[in-house]
Amino acid sequence: MNSIFTDTLQGKETSRPPVWFMRQAGRVLPSYLKLKEDYSFWQMMKDPSLAAKVTLLPVHDLGVDAAILFSDILVIPYAMGMGLDFTDNGPVFETPLKDVTDPLSKLNPDPGKLQYIYDAIDKIIETRPENNPLIGFCGAPLTVLCFMLQGLGTRSNFADAEKFFFTNKELTKKLAEAVTELSIVYALEQIKHGISAFQLFDTHAGLVPFEYYKEIFLPSVKKIADAVRKTGTPFIFFPKGIGTGISEIDHEICDYLSIDWQTPLQHARKMVDPKVGLQGNLDPRILYSDQDTIRKELEKFIPFHKQEKNWIFNLGHGLMPGIPVENVKFVIDWIKETKW
Ligand code: CP3
Repeated sequence: MNSIFTDTLQGKETSRPPVWFMRQAGRVLPSYLKLKEDYSFWQMMKDPSLAAKVTLLPVHDLGVDAAILFSDILVIPYAMGMGLDFTDNGPVFETPLKDVTDPLSKLNPDPGKLQYIYDAIDKIIETRPENNPLIGFCGAPLTVLCFMLQGLGTRSNFADAEKFFFTNKELTKKLAEAVTELSIVYALEQIKHGISAFQLFDTHAGLVPFEYYKEIFLPSVKKIADAVRKTGTPFIFFPKGIGTGISEIDHEICDYLSIDWQTPLQHARKMVDPKVGLQGNLDPRILYSDQDTIRKELEKFIPFHKQEKNWIFNLGHGLMPGIPVENVKFVIDWIKETKW
């Protein structure tokens, strides 16, 4: 495949940094918002043709250098038997694990319940434009467990999940292992069906102290990473909010590290293993400002690129609802037209 995204991941020099955005399909695109009037999120995800269509919307409408599978990190708990609904207030589990006496025994992993996603990947590969790679993904065990335990995914409140982590450390580890096992099956199957890179989302990694993270969750991350990387598929890791913990995420764990908006990219470069490439990290909220302000923020990345070629342009977290799509397009055009 002749793609600036896969070339960069393979360490080849390219004329500019590749660009894609976390949450590029399901948040700001008018073409997506229009589809949402007729279909629920579950309907779009479960119908391979619709999922493929939505996956490729940002490629056609925005010109990003890679597509990311239109799915969700919570398909794993769903495939472990947890009833899941996506409501206007976010995802809701029928029976949160915090309310269950023996949570491990309640989980019943069924890999067959992920088949619709592989069908969607087949459809994407069949219908995508030439040379446009597909990124597969899943959630990291900590973030997925936050939702499984808490049940209601209101954005920043995982109080019961946090309490659980500290009162049931051994059980937390076992639950993380159960999520890991199915995530590995899932990742390998995505690879079989033709994804070009894999990103692990650990959006809530910053909820626990890094020492705790290292002890309880990082071994699971490493297992998923090892399984993916053994196939030769590049592995991108996004542990949001771990602060100086990034200095301990080395090439043993990932090929690329996605940096959150809290951490200046230059600082990240000094802290992270030089063998690990970086992805990121424009603050998505900058995209609410006017285009002059956005351009000034973008220009700050030029000196960074001069010293660092192993870099993929992205945001420091996903696109947010209400960001004007013109501003997203402006960033992509700027990346493509700038003399780097
Ligand atoms: O561009 C894309 O949207 C790609 C597909 C994608 C979705 N979720 C679709 C989605 C991806 C990569 C995710 C990852 C995801 N899901 C994460 C990690 C990344 C991040 O943004 O932090 C997390 C924490 C989730 C869990 C989740 N799923 C939440 C908190 C919500 C509700 C709020 C929201 O919109 O994010 C969801 C639902 C969800 N996932 C929607 C979409 C398009 C919204 C469904 C709707 O509009 O009804």
